[in-house]
Amino acid sequence: QELQLNLEQIEKGGYEHFMLKEIHEQPNAISDTYRGRMLADKGIIRMAGVDDNMERIANAKRIIIVACGTSWHAGLVAEYIFEDIARIPVEVEYASEFRYRNPVITENDVVIAISQSGETADTMAAIKLAKEKGAFAFGVCNVVGSSISRETHAGAYTHAGPEIGVASTKAFTTQITVLTLMALKLGKFKGTISQSDFQFHLQEMERIPEKVKEALKSDKLIQEVAFKYKDAPNCLYLGRGYNFPVALEGALKLKEISYIHAEGYPAAEMKHGPIALIDEQMPVVVIATKKGHYEKVVSNIQEIKSRKGKIIAVVTKGDEEVRELADYVIEVPETIESLTPLLTTIPLQLLSYHIAVMLGKNVDQPRNLAKSVTVE
Ligand code: G6P
Repeated sequence: QELQLNLEQIEKGGYEHFMLKEIHEQPNAISDTYRGRMLADKGIIRMAGVDDNMERIANAKRIIIVACGTSWHAGLVAEYIFEDIARIPVEVEYASEFRYRNPVITENDVVIAISQSGETADTMAAIKLAKEKGAFAFGVCNVVGSSISRETHAGAYTHAGPEIGVASTKAFTTQITVLTLMALKLGKFKGTISQSDFQFHLQEMERIPEKVKEALKSDKLIQEVAFKYKDAPNCLYLGRGYNFPVALEGALKLKEISYIHAEGYPAAEMKHGPIALIDEQMPVVVIATKKGHYEKVVSNIQEIKSRKGKIIAVVTKGDEEVRELADYVIEVPETIESLTPLLTTIPLQLLSYHIAVMLGKNVDQPRNLAKSVTVE
């Protein structure tokens, strides 16, 4: 028993919970994921699974992404990246819905399964179905040799290392990393991204681990925010563009481990429903980075403020405008728009973590949830 405890202590590497350790591992997990694949100074990305099937993937009429949970959110971020950079139409599907819908799939489709465990039953079934219909199946898994990684025609692993906390953190950011590299590679092959833009993306990617470290430094401030809002019964998360899926993921994290009801919404949809919920009791987490619809999100913040909602804003370092309006401002370093999710996710992970800890919840093993869902 005692030995078991000590072993767990060692595995946690001095952190109180696996989740916190895994949040802090993200700078390394992200660089482990691009290292050996990306040579920023030479402007090269090597990914065997993509290189070996370049024609097939680049000529896809459509990419369909299938996944569940947090991996589905990474898929939503990838939708923006693939369409933006590689100009390939993308659909993102819950694997469980896709598999039972008699979906239209052709041989010209590429189906990407995203799965940390590589064992999720619905995602596996979706891939089998896609293969039966003649589509090319590509896996983005974390666990090496997992069922989905074996079932797919090709793939690219995330190199996040083992993720123990049930609520996914470093798997999410490394999935985005892999999918970004893939989109850049396809974009370069297809000529849909300029050489200079491509180069710039690579250089910026290389700066991400340092910037994640910087973002992690807001921990103390985030604890203060957590303390202030830990007893709220509801919480709303808003984001736009690349950061809309980040809002969904932030809300999911809070639900999963603190059991506080939370909803993520595209900021502009607020006026079509969620605005009715806003009063002085309602904390609203808004991602308002400088790149991407900034002014529009600022006007959403004004609308929340005029209804007395409490505003917790995630902003680009140095932002002045939102600071005037928000109750709390959490800064992340500046980067190009497509890479902002890798930074804006960090404070949201920490916020849910600290709230759950303050509420005395079992952070690493939340009730009713499993790390890997191998049943329907
Ligand atoms: C479970 C886990 C989530 C995870 C989801 C998909 O619900 O609790 O954290 O995002 O499954 O898992 P996968 O292994 O396919 O990414």
